[in-house]
Amino acid sequence: MQTFRQLDMLRQGVAALRGEGARIALVPTMGALHAGHLALVEEARRVADQVVVSIFVNPTQFAPGEDFERYPRREAADSRMLADADVAILWMPPTEVMYPPGHATRIAVSGVSSVLDGAHRPGHFDGVATVVAKLLHQVRPDTALFGEKDYQQLCVVRRMVADLDIDVTIRGVTTQRDDDGLALSSRNIYLDDDERVRAVALPRALGVAARAIERGDPPEAALGAARETLTAAGFAIDYVELVDAGTLETFDPARPGRLLAAARMGATRLIDNVAVEPLQQG
Ligand code: PAF
Repeated sequence: MQTFRQLDMLRQGVAALRGEGARIALVPTMGALHAGHLALVEEARRVADQVVVSIFVNPTQFAPGEDFERYPRREAADSRMLADADVAILWMPPTEVMYPPGHATRIAVSGVSSVLDGAHRPGHFDGVATVVAKLLHQVRPDTALFGEKDYQQLCVVRRMVADLDIDVTIRGVTTQRDDDGLALSSRNIYLDDDERVRAVALPRALGVAARAIERGDPPEAALGAARETLTAAGFAIDYVELVDAGTLETFDPARPGRLLAAARMGATRLIDNVAVEPLQQG
């Protein structure tokens, strides 16, 4: 595996792979890699000949007071994991390479960015859209892969890629979960033992609510029950919402829905989401 920290070196490395006729997949990450990231790499290997992984803890997607400073950074361990997973290129730009002095452009995707996490973390998705656009231009992959755990992020990236005519296929990959159902996240390490046990209420409450809605229960009742379960487990809820799976706008029972939640367990903010299948007609 080649590791690059400068853009001209990255471009040469990618050009060499292209020269061999390779189809290239990009897995953008912020490091602190876990089995969820490895599932993205595995899927990337399935759809392309060579895999590029980026590790960049992107300051512009953290609001003041969020966990940018304490976000886990594990360069050596991450690098070993990726080399073992047969990744061709690790792209690890320093902040001044990603955002040189004078950098002044931000990409704002309206609509899908403004609800749910966008409403609770103002500016977050502008930071995500900007860095993902830059990564796509830096690497120019055929395919880029994103986890469904960050479902709204996936929707924002899809919208941006369509709107800016970026020539790349975006693939969402199913959320990887611990045995008890908690979605894998680099932030799970913030949970103490007791919080970790109680955190399982998040996927369970979403699963129960999704199945109830699919059976035809009134969504508001199902969402209310999910909120009660989360509060009883000790979560402080940011939102539990049912929306259209494509637009993140108003849920229509005849179309695929998505149930998304963000809630804080102690100092740790967790997010999760599940699919809600459309009601069968007739
Ligand atoms: O999902 C993440 O880890 C980040 O939001 C991403 C897509 C790498 C952009 O910084």
